[in-house]
Parts: sequence; structure tokens; C-alpha cells
Amino acid sequence: MQLSLDKRAVPIVLTEGISTTAADAFTQAGYDNITQLTHAPDEQELRELLATARILGIRSRTKLTAEMLAAAPRLIAVGCFCIGTNQVDLDAAHIKGIPVFNAPFSNTRSVAELTISAIIALVRGIPEKNAALHRGNWQKTAKGAHEVRGKALGIVGYGNIGTQVSILADALGMKVYFYDIATKLAHGNATRVATLNELYALADVITYHVPETPETTGMVDAAALEQMKPGVKLINYARGSLFDIDALSAALASGQVGGAAIDVFPTEPEQNGPHFTSPLCAFDTTLLTPHIGGSTQEAQANIGLEVADKLITYSDNGSTVGAVNFPEVSLPVHHGAHRILNIHQNVPGMLRQINAVFADAGVNVLGQFLQTQRDVGYVVIDVEGSADRTTIQDFRDTLQALDGSLRTRILH
Ligand code: NAI
Repeated sequence: MQLSLDKRAVPIVLTEGISTTAADAFTQAGYDNITQLTHAPDEQELRELLATARILGIRSRTKLTAEMLAAAPRLIAVGCFCIGTNQVDLDAAHIKGIPVFNAPFSNTRSVAELTISAIIALVRGIPEKNAALHRGNWQKTAKGAHEVRGKALGIVGYGNIGTQVSILADALGMKVYFYDIATKLAHGNATRVATLNELYALADVITYHVPETPETTGMVDAAALEQMKPGVKLINYARGSLFDIDALSAALASGQVGGAAIDVFPTEPEQNGPHFTSPLCAFDTTLLTPHIGGSTQEAQANIGLEVADKLITYSDNGSTVGAVNFPEVSLPVHHGAHRILNIHQNVPGMLRQINAVFADAGVNVLGQFLQTQRDVGYVVIDVEGSADRTTIQDFRDTLQALDGSLRTRILH
């Protein structure tokens, strides 16, 4: 496949009501053939769009299967304007030489803010007062209601979200302790603890910000709950698999857990509607939300910008930093040089063949960057800008004709 097109004409398709910050970023970067859909295209419409699209932006509802990718002859990159990338057949995209980008951290602040609100609500006993009042039951009392200042917060998982929560909780005057399997620098006055049990013995409120892994699955079970302070408040805004819901229910019933804010569940409905059930619904002391920890207008706007930036950088410069299925290459700007991008099968002898093309033509290579990942190799070659465009187009054709070449693109 040979790819070269005036940037303004590059067909970009943004589906599912992706924030306008994305289209604005493309426009500012000089692209003006942008199709914006507010819906998720069905199979037939997606197939039609993919016949010409060079860049496709989707959210979680558009399924990009191997079959769909096979029907996308000109597609150079996919942007998932969300956190997850399960909706794309990443292996099929990898084999076809199509990098897929996402926005893993654009909603960090949104989750951190909601966590802080949950800490305050739980420590004041707001969920149960709110539930009682919905039933007409007036409960004006200070009993069991506390300030968070001076209380001990335990953070499990001190990554992007955990550290933000730490900084905000520290500013509220909480004593912050954290546990992470990796060595992490403590922010502000936070204290690192060596074991989970140490954290459980100290914390009045515990909030979880770890990924789903074999170690974290079921980490909050009956045995863990027993290690915590009686009346502890728990927050899970990470992944539903972390908590044993039956064990949590038993601990809520006995009072071992004094309240819980839960945003993620072992199984979650695929569509909005009145069909959610959980044993946790039985407790007034639970603050339940439908996996909206990261769902804010600001996060959507940030996601639009973050993913559009990655796609523009790849299209303009060839850098693949942040791709989830592709060799990561971070490239300098190529002023005064032609840049040739070649994606090929990762088989022995490819680079030798590619270099021979330039050596045989006596063209001076200014820089070369190579990265391989599983089945795919990605080489970027900068050659002197004085080389005329026809010669460069010839290189492209020759490189593309090599056995094992998947895609070749030129950036003048
Ligand atoms: P991150 O990757 O930046 O941080 C995770 C931290 O957990 C890392 O520091 C890692 O070393 C640590 N960790 C991993 N295994 C551990 C273990 N067994 N014990 C202790 N620490 C462990 O991730 P980020 O961005 O902070 O996200 C955290 C969680 O929040 C993820 O599960 C993510 O899926 C979830 N999330 C939920 C959202 C929602 O809508 N409720 C939105 C965004 C993220």
C-alpha cells in the first residue's frame, strides 16, 4: 500500500459524538476533511466510511473487528477516544500495521475529585441520611458524623489517580498512608507503608486505585475485611473484580464496614436502564454510582485533545508514542528532510533490504529509527531534503514492493 496525500484532503472520520476538541485540534493542525458523526455507525455505514478513511476515531460502541479492518485499505491509524481498547481487534490492527491510540489518563482528575467527595460523604454518614430522607425520615443528628480533617486515609495503588487523591486529601488535613507494589515517591505529607495489613490497621477510610490483575482480583475478601478497623469506610472506584461483594455485604451488615462508595461492579449492565441489581442496594450506608468515576465533560474534552494530538503527531511526524498495539517510536521534527515511514513484517533481513535501496541509489540517510514489536517492524528514515520528490516517490514504490512490506508513507 502506498500512501501520500495532501494533508488538507486526508479523510478523517470521528464517530460517537467525540468531543469537538478533537475536530478543532485537527483543523488547527491543517486538516479539513473531517466527518463528524454523533452516533456509532452500524456495520454497513462503518464499511462505507472505512473504504476511504485514513484516520478513524471511535469511542466504546463502534466495534472494529478484523473483518472491518480488512475493509479499510487506506486506514493509517485508529483513535479510541476513551480509556479501553477492547472494541478494537488490536492483533488484527497490529498485523495490518495500524497503530491504535487511546487516552488512559485524561479522566484521572475526575476520578480523584469524586473519590474526595465520597470520602467526605462517607465520613459524615451522608448516604444513610440521604436514603432515610428519601423515605421521609428526618434524621438531624451529629452522631456518627465527622470531619475528615485529622482522619487516616489509606490509598491502595499510588499511581495516577492514587497520587492525585493523596495530594487533595493531604490538603484537606487528612493523614495519608499508601501501599503500592512499586516503589513510589510520597507526595506532600503522605507516608508509605510496607504491607496492606499495616495500612488496614491504620486507616479510617480506604480507597482502592489499582488495576485489575490476578493479585488485585478479590483482594478485598472476608480475610482482608477482618484486618481493617471496625467501622472502616471503603471506596472502590477502580475495578469491580477487586471486591468480594458477598463478603462486603456481610461486613456492612455486621457493622465491620461502616459505609462503602462503589462505582464499579463485578458485572455491569451494557446499556442504561432499570435493570441493575446488587446485594449492596440493600444497604443505606452504600453510595452506589454507575461507573461514572471518570465521566465528566472536562474528561471528555481532555480525551478529545489527547487522542487527537497522538493521531496528528503520528500523521505529521510518524511518532507512535502512546500506541497500545505498535512499536513505540519517538521522533524528532524532520526539518529540511524527507521522512519515509515503512511498516513491515518482523522477519529477518528486512532492514538489510531497506538499507540496500538507499545505498544502491547513493542517497545520504540522515537518521534512521527502528522499533519492532511481535509481528511488526517500524522503520523511519530521514533523507536529505535536497533529494527531489520524484526520487523519493520512487523510493517509496521500491520499499513498498519489498517482500514483507506492509505500508510505506512519505512526509515531505
Ligand atoms: P495507574 O496505572 O496509574 O496506577 C495503578 C497503581 O497501582 C500503580 O502505581 C501500580 O504499581 C499499583 N498496583 C498494581 N498492582 C498493585 C497491587 N497488587 N497492590 C498495590 N498496588 C498495586 O492507574 P490509574 O490511572 O491510577 O487507575 C487506577 C484504577 O482506576 C484502574 O483500575 C482503572 O481502571 C480505574 N479507573 C476507573 C475509572 C472509573 O470510571 N471508575 C476511570 C479511570 C480509571
